[in-house]
Amino acid sequence: MNTTQIQADLLKNKVALVTGAGRGIGRACTEALAAAGARVIAVDLSQADLDSLKECCPALIDTWQEDVTADAFYLKIEALSRLDILINNAGMNKPQAFTEVDNEILSAMLKLNVEAAFRTAQCATRVMLRENIEGSIINMSSQMGHVGSPSRTVYCMTKHAIEGLTKAMAVELAPHGIRVNAIAPTFVETPMTKPMFEEPVFRKFVMDRIPLGRIGQVEDVAEAVLFLASSRSSMITGDSLKVDGGWTAQ
Ligand SMILES: NC(=O)c1ccc[n+]([C@@H]2O[C@H](COP(=O)([O-])OP(=O)(O)OC[C@H]3O[C@@H](n4cnc5c(N)ncnc54)[C@H](OP(=O)(O)O)[C@@H]3O)[C@@H](O)[C@H]2O)c1
Repeated sequence: MNTTQIQADLLKNKVALVTGAGRGIGRACTEALAAAGARVIAVDLSQADLDSLKECCPALIDTWQEDVTADAFYLKIEALSRLDILINNAGMNKPQAFTEVDNEILSAMLKLNVEAAFRTAQCATRVMLRENIEGSIINMSSQMGHVGSPSRTVYCMTKHAIEGLTKAMAVELAPHGIRVNAIAPTFVETPMTKPMFEEPVFRKFVMDRIPLGRIGQVEDVAEAVLFLASSRSSMITGDSLKVDGGWTAQ
């Protein structure tokens, strides 16, 4: 992303961890956090993607090639001596008609979008509590955490779960000064949505429902992440910031 407009000391001395950082939204968030001065631990399955990401800010980006659904990853988070910001971003979607949903896809999506997000947030919180850090946790939800849509029963179910997790964490952790918020983007052009947008009928379906008249870009989400990660949002917790061009306002 174009990081020239970002205030270079906004997150100076902060340590952030971003899951699913190799591509798409997570990659843009990592670049933005580093441009704002944070040291960022970028987590992804693909070492090649992590290597190319690190080139943008070698001094500020550490890379972990880890599977966020694996116990080894959770142990590694808990071993951190400092963590101020979690961008709990890794997620997947395989749209299928409700009656055709494949059991393996159902399990994989629950595992990554819900269970891994829960356990990642849990381990990050343990570090913040142990080290007395008033951190900011940002769970990557979706507009599909607020509404329904065809062929998205599993995805909507998982993102509604993320919205509930965010609210309950926010209430429980507020006495410790830990803020927990969600970001709920509309359709954003990323490798995940690329195959969807290759279908002209689907592209029109999406465009017809975004009042601002454009598909989201990863930079739109990264800007929201910077806001919620920084002290500029110090009175905001338990919220879901919709970056949806008006989709859910209708
Ligand atoms: N794009 C959208 O329109 C949109 C809209 C609303 C919300 N979101 C949410 O935003 C988040 C990111 O979406 P995206 O579109 O940027 O997705 P993406 O382009 O598919 O990127 C996801 C990244 O997560 C990584 N990843 C997947 N499984 C992993 C695992 N088990 N362990 C570690 N890393 C893993 C992927 O690595 P590999 O490439 O190596 O598999 C990839 O780099 C998701 O939670 C998604 O639900 C997206």
